[in-house]
Amino acid sequence: MKILHIDSSIMGDASISRKLSQALVQQLQTKHADAQVDYLDLAAAPIPHLSAEILMGQNVEQSELGEQLVQQYLDADIVVVGAAMYNFGLSSALKAWIDRISVAGRTFKYTEKGPVGLAGDKKAYIVSSRGGVYGENSPFDFQEGLLKTVFGFTGVTDVSIIRAEGVNMGEEAKEKGMTEALAQIQAA
Ligand SMILES: Cc1cc2nc3c(=O)[nH]c(=O)nc-3n(C[C@H](O)[C@H](O)[C@H](O)COP(=O)(O)O)c2cc1C
Repeated sequence: MKILHIDSSIMGDASISRKLSQALVQQLQTKHADAQVDYLDLAAAPIPHLSAEILMGQNVEQSELGEQLVQQYLDADIVVVGAAMYNFGLSSALKAWIDRISVAGRTFKYTEKGPVGLAGDKKAYIVSSRGGVYGENSPFDFQEGLLKTVFGFTGVTDVSIIRAEGVNMGEEAKEKGMTEALAQIQAA
């Protein structure tokens, strides 16, 4: 049993998504005592953005890193992604990870009937933190929606969202957002 735990907030110890993703991984470890946890801190150790050179396989070091990231994603039984909403989307560090694991022939393929995901058979948790309140399927949400789409495109359809929202709308709203997210973690 392998858990891939990813954090991407730029806010270090002040980050809400980091606190929540850690609480979720701890909760999952109580259920899967044998779990091996791979941890990626994309803010502390950023993955270089995809470039033409990397895409064309002209940078050996980056090709090796890309393959490592793809294999790590394929091997994971559970993926936990701490995702802060920044300017309606994800942190650029998390987008850089998405660009490196979305690889034709490895995590998806194109067929005559359209794209097919190759990284199924895993469970994904999106641990979402956002200052405002958007709920489900908001036209302003390019954060949870993008992650869900990328998971689905790579074949991962079992996706749960742990959401703390309204965290920048005053202490009461923040407390409510955190309480709701922690309750979702307890139930996970
Ligand atoms: C650069 C930046 C951009 C942000 N953009 C948004 C936004 O578009 N919508 C929103 O509701 N909150 C926004 N926020 C608030 C964050 O979503 C909120 O602080 C959340 O807790 C971030 O997760 P973190 O605490 O794990 O970093 C932004 C915060 C920062 C620092």
